Amino acid sequence: MNWFIKFLSSSIGRKLIMSLTGLFLILFLTVHLIGNLQLFKDDGGQAFNVYAHFMTSNPLIKFIAYGNYFFILLHAFMGIYIASYNRKAKGQQPAVTNPNVRITWASKNMPILGGLILAFLLMHMGDFWLKMKLGNVNMVSYAGIEGEVKNLYERVAISFKELWVVIVYLVGLVALAFHLNHGFQSAFQTLGINHRKYTPLIKKLGLLYSLIVPIGFALMPIYYYFFR
Ligand code: HEM
Repeated sequence: MNWFIKFLSSSIGRKLIMSLTGLFLILFLTVHLIGNLQLFKDDGGQAFNVYAHFMTSNPLIKFIAYGNYFFILLHAFMGIYIASYNRKAKGQQPAVTNPNVRITWASKNMPILGGLILAFLLMHMGDFWLKMKLGNVNMVSYAGIEGEVKNLYERVAISFKELWVVIVYLVGLVALAFHLNHGFQSAFQTLGINHRKYTPLIKKLGLLYSLIVPIGFALMPIYYYFFR
């Protein structure tokens, strides 16, 4: 056990934690985006509310959600630790550069981008998740569905009618796009997936992912602000 803790607190162990938690969060974002696509249905929010009810009441998904909160915190704290460690170490030791990882604006600014995403996330969770948990949303009932469910659709629609909220979302999502573009390929590099044939493919997939996911999320506030 001692060797395991020693490994996780070594510099490669810390990178591994960033990589594995990052890949988990990439998976979470994909599921969250696909589920939220129900917001585009013209059904008064029924599909979205029924979906959100399932996601927040199913015991297995609830268990995964606690893992998700833990991984978000671990990824954020480890990122802050690595960034401050690198700042202190600057100038004391030669920089170790991996020739396969291109230095880009995003790669140099990962801590700032991560900080912007964290700020966005705090606002997002305060507005939707916390209000849902505290019961500060109306209830609604649908034919064929037992009992009442929380009307999260109404909450989303109200929030996305505020221009400042839309702007904060768009800024957060631009930061997410840059963060994902570097993070996606960097996670695979850390896991040692470094191949003449596959690395360019992973980079292209990363670029595609970092465009599709933030644009998909960004269309939601834009659609609600202008067209609903
Ligand atoms: C812009 C469109 C988005 C909408 C409409 C939206 C909507 C929601 C809603 C209604 C909830 C509470 C219900 C639930 O847990 O499913 C929620 C939770 C959450 N959202 Fe979003 N979201 C959006 C984007 C994002 C983005 C870009 C991120 C991450 C960067 C994110 C991260 C989270 C997290 C971590 C939770 C808590 C999940 C849980 O409890 O398991 N969301 N979102």
